[in-house]
Amino acid sequence: MALHFITALLTVMFLVFVGRARSQTRVFDVRQFGAVNGGKIDSSDALLSAWRQACSLGGMNVIRVPRGTFLLSPTILAGPCRGSMELRINGILRASAALSSLDVDYWIVLQRIDDLNITGDGVLDGQGHSAWKYNDCFWNPKCKTLPTTLRLQDVNNTLLHDIASVNSKSAHLSIFACQNVSLERVKLTAPGDSPNTDGIRVGMSSYVFIRDSVIGTGDDCIAMNHGSVKIIITNVTCGPGHGISIGSLGGSPDENPVRLVWVGNCSFVGTTNGLRIKTKATSYRSLVSGITFADIHVENVTNPIIIDQQYCPSHTCDPKAVSLVAIHYVKYKNITGTSSSQVAVNLQCSPAAPCLNVTLQDIDLSYHGDTTSSCSNVFGSSSGIQHPPPCVNNRS
Ligand SMILES: *[C@@H]1O[C@H](CO)[C@@H](O)[C@H](O)[C@H]1NC(C)=O
Ligand SMILES: *[C@@H]1O[C@H](CO)[C@@H](O)[C@H](O)[C@H]1NC(C)=O
Ligand SMILES: *[C@@H]1O[C@H](CO)[C@@H](O)[C@H](O)[C@H]1NC(C)=O
Ligand SMILES: *[C@@H]1O[C@H](CO)[C@@H](O)[C@H](O)[C@H]1NC(C)=O
Ligand SMILES: *[C@@H]1O[C@H](CO)[C@@H](O)[C@H](O)[C@H]1NC(C)=O
Ligand SMILES: *[C@@H]1O[C@H](CO)[C@@H](O)[C@H](O)[C@H]1NC(C)=O
Ligand SMILES: *[C@@H]1O[C@H](CO)[C@@H](O)[C@H](O)[C@H]1NC(C)=O
Ligand SMILES: *[C@@H]1O[C@H](CO)[C@@H](O)[C@H](O)[C@H]1NC(C)=O
Repeated sequence: MALHFITALLTVMFLVFVGRARSQTRVFDVRQFGAVNGGKIDSSDALLSAWRQACSLGGMNVIRVPRGTFLLSPTILAGPCRGSMELRINGILRASAALSSLDVDYWIVLQRIDDLNITGDGVLDGQGHSAWKYNDCFWNPKCKTLPTTLRLQDVNNTLLHDIASVNSKSAHLSIFACQNVSLERVKLTAPGDSPNTDGIRVGMSSYVFIRDSVIGTGDDCIAMNHGSVKIIITNVTCGPGHGISIGSLGGSPDENPVRLVWVGNCSFVGTTNGLRIKTKATSYRSLVSGITFADIHVENVTNPIIIDQQYCPSHTCDPKAVSLVAIHYVKYKNITGTSSSQVAVNLQCSPAAPCLNVTLQDIDLSYHGDTTSSCSNVFGSSSGIQHPPPCVNNRS
């Protein structure tokens, strides 16, 4: 009897122990793998070793970058992993300023991972000042792409929060081929004149949620490229920068549409654009559909509302070329504030693919008094307050 009892008790204790071990959170501090604080010695091998070990285990695994400054050369952290992973960055990860860091178009890549958490109050320091002078994209259409600070590729069910990124060499964050990724309270910063330093680039991804974030950079705060579907952006402050953009689209064949985008409660301060949709001319066929911009405030923004189907970043395009990207169902609702140019609403759609079902509701934009709107090939409707007077054609 007593023996049975002890055996049963031991069995229960064993099961509890195993259960604990399974649900336990293991922490892998990069210093234990040879990372050196100080920002002089490359810690990428240490981060990679920590990642590989954590990724091979089930349960919850945390890779910890503690306070301090750690130099990191370009690094790919790949899955699939057996358990759920967390990358907890409390220190500064510093990119290399060496010319060799420009050999690849990434700095940190996370790929093929399901169930990832990127947390901490740390900073990704891209050392962009060393690289921006090599950006010749303004006049060279075949220019080399400089490194993106953090790329998530084929990453699902992921939350990234409270991380800051400064002085990226090119984009700060890129979300490509991902499903269900949330970004919360991120802070992305680069000088207003730094070239191509987009805040967040999204492509071929769905269910992407970006909220409560502050983005001030030298290019688009957020750019939604082809295949961006079901994207919700709320409470983002943008400026300096080129605004929140859809596209550019049409630059290559077989681009997937951009559909179902919601941008709400965002503000723009001193940006060149606010809410922008841009497509290239001459272009391939594609589609932008189901876009809502609501409860937006702009301050001193050059083009608060703009559709540009003649987007031509390299100034080598044919001005007579037309875009074949169709733009349907775009709604602008409760857009208020000040413009820094007179044409506050500028909708230039393609004669080959007019914009359809564009609605403007409660638009109140001022510029030393009066603002104007300018439309080409735009069909839809307007209601409520309309300042500037609308130019959307309500006959089709
Ligand atoms: C992410 O989800 C997509 C779509 O369900 C799937 O094709 C892909 O394999 C998933 N990737 C990972 C790493 O789980
Ligand atoms: C992700 O981080 C948050 C906040 O630190 C925490 O509450 C949550 O449990 C974490 N989730 C995973 C899967 O690590
Ligand atoms: C999306 O990802 C989060 C983790 O960031 C997870 O908690 C949630 O269940 C996922 N949603 C779906 C529909 O899978
Ligand atoms: C909006 O985001 C900012 C910056 O993260 C945050 O401080 C503020 O609390 C957020 N507002 C709401 C209503 O959540
Ligand atoms: C903006 O925030 C308010 C208050 O949180 C909310 O009621 C409203 O629905 C939000 N608007 C959008 C477009 O997300
Ligand atoms: C319009 O948007 C602003 C934010 O820009 C918000 O504070 C205000 O409540 C909104 N108005 C309505 C009627 O929803
Ligand atoms: C408005 O923006 C312009 C640049 O577009 C800038 O020169 C000017 O100083 C800004 N004005 C205010 C009041 O911020
Ligand atoms: C969309 O636009 C077309 C043509 O302008 C019009 O016939 C149709 O009723 C509109 N659809 C909706 C849902 O407004």
